[in-house]
Amino acid sequence: GIRAFSSSAAVSEAIKRITVVGGGQMGAGIAQVAATFDHQVTLVDVSPEALERGRQYMGKSLGRVAKKKFPEDPAQQTNWVDSILGRIQGSTELSKGVSQADLVVEAIVENINVKQSLFADVAQAAPADCILASNTSSLPIGRIFENLSAERRALAVGLHFFNPVAQMKLVEVVRTGENREETVQKALDFVRAIGKSPAVCQDTPGFIVNRLLLPYMMEAIRLLERGVADSRDIDTAMKLGAGYPMGPFELADYVGLDTVKAIVDGWYTDGEGLKGDSLFMPSPKLNELVAAGNLGVKSGQGFYNYK
Ligand code: CAA
Ligand code: NAD
Repeated sequence: GIRAFSSSAAVSEAIKRITVVGGGQMGAGIAQVAATFDHQVTLVDVSPEALERGRQYMGKSLGRVAKKKFPEDPAQQTNWVDSILGRIQGSTELSKGVSQADLVVEAIVENINVKQSLFADVAQAAPADCILASNTSSLPIGRIFENLSAERRALAVGLHFFNPVAQMKLVEVVRTGENREETVQKALDFVRAIGKSPAVCQDTPGFIVNRLLLPYMMEAIRLLERGVADSRDIDTAMKLGAGYPMGPFELADYVGLDTVKAIVDGWYTDGEGLKGDSLFMPSPKLNELVAAGNLGVKSGQGFYNYK
């Protein structure tokens, strides 16, 4: 009816300028997708080098799509990639970077104190009606925003993307008890406006996907530790026997072993309803890899070698 029409028109107007904080594999992916769907994007990271890494990642990913889109035309490929990258501005100054934003999406390190401190700074500088979102894999959305004002908390949600962002169609939209209904609607509209499909979830550890995926990955690592099978055979088994596109070790390397460890350690020591759950018990093999700096694809070595 007319109401639905007017509210969706108003809402699609609502989010045009996005600021993504953290230009790692997730943040760069989110910036890339938002810019591909015509949003104006600011990407904030701590150093010019980090921003440059993000830009390289986006350029490479867009380059692959451009090759498919314009197979015979290198000039068109370059134009297309450049026009998308042209909508993404890099910045190392958080307060400037968020000052015009309709939506801020945080994708920095998976650490509650660092995320809380970041949002304290964001709240100083972002417009009062700006939607605030975290891409956290495992931390409670409510806790990330707990030190902000009630007005800010009403506008703060989880927007959980999946890796690789450009290819994975899902975004979990995580609502808290303090959200204004309109906030969730705007978040859903944004997700659809960037070509993704939302799944709405309450603020519980792991939301939907990670609550199911992390126990599976950890059980795979424990099979390896017990010598039941090697990682190649476990991966082959799950790909050919269960139809998964990647096996659990390929996926853990892809996600980043530091991220996997941060998630399970957090839940084992402090997870609401999960504390001490043997599903998330520390794994000697995982700890050893992370301690040696073998973090998976991003470091060139994890369960497998990528060099
Ligand atoms: N930008 C946009 N689209 C792209 C693209 C790019 N750079 N590159 C490829 N695509 C498109 C392709 O055109 C294709 O689209 P269509 O299906 O419409 O044709 C689609 O993306 C798939 O691409 P490919 O066929 O090249 O991909 P593939 O078959 O080799 O599969 C994969 C690659 C999608 C990564 C697949 O291996 C996969 O799904 N792996 C599992 C990944 C996964 O489970 N991720 C979740 C990790 S957990 C997480 O992220 C949460 C957390 O908090 C830790
Ligand atoms: P990453 O290590 O690739 O990137 C993190 C980026 O944040 C780095 O570029 C770093 O320089 C930057 N950064 C750190 N502190 C910052 C600060 N205070 N201000 C600005 N930038 C800062 O990590 P990632 O894999 O992209 O993960 C980012 C977040 O997304 C985490 O919360 C993670 O749990 C979540 N996540 C990860 C995955 C995955 O598969 N890796 C999937 C979904 C969600």
